[in-house]
Amino acid sequence: MLKNFQVAIDGPASAGKSTIAKILATDLKYVYVDTGAMYRTVTLAAKNAGIAYDDESGIVNLLTQIDIRFEPGTPTQRVYLNNQEVTEDIRSTEITNNVSQVASYAAVRQDLVGRQRHIANSSDIIMDGRDIGTTVLPYAQVKIFLIASVEERANRRYKENIAKGMTVDLVSLKKDIEARDYKDSHREISPLTQAEDAVLVDTTGQSIDEVVSKITKIIQNKQKQ
Ligand code: DC
Repeated sequence: MLKNFQVAIDGPASAGKSTIAKILATDLKYVYVDTGAMYRTVTLAAKNAGIAYDDESGIVNLLTQIDIRFEPGTPTQRVYLNNQEVTEDIRSTEITNNVSQVASYAAVRQDLVGRQRHIANSSDIIMDGRDIGTTVLPYAQVKIFLIASVEERANRRYKENIAKGMTVDLVSLKKDIEARDYKDSHREISPLTQAEDAVLVDTTGQSIDEVVSKITKIIQNKQKQ
């Protein structure tokens, strides 16, 4: 029996996990952990250290020198790598296109899963990622598998990037998302899969409010049990 309340939100890239998880965490006053940001931070640490993304042992050796810390912030949580803020840097196209490779290394996953479980022990938590319901928090009281069509996900990313003043091409965004989906769901260790006890929520054509309210109801029903 868990002493805290855990909500696991998994799903493919750009399905809206972090947007929804952040709102739910604020509403419920739970701690929010973006595990994708942790894999991104390790990828950035490799880049900064001049270690190639395919140098598995080089990256694994680097793990002991990597401290990852989150701090609350608006509109988004701040991420720190060894006390240096990397919130924006971990969202660059280079990191986005290489993080799946770094996330496929067994020792990287083992290390980060340990850190994620440690954080999840201490308070009520909403954690999003790819393997939260299946591996990181298998006893989470609520598990959500959030999906949306590739077209809708590419469109959402396109609008986000334009709003940030980045120049982007919708067709290549869609290709990148498909490539990442493929890598994330075909890797050997903890591939992206829906946990047996997860509720499937398709956000295609749904507003953020509609999705938040649907998941809030699922959480409230569980809390009553
Ligand atoms: O959610 P995101 O796009 O920020 O995640 C970045 C990458 O990290 C994604 O391509 C897959 C990987 N990831 C993972 O393997 N396991 C997680 N729990 C979270 C992310």
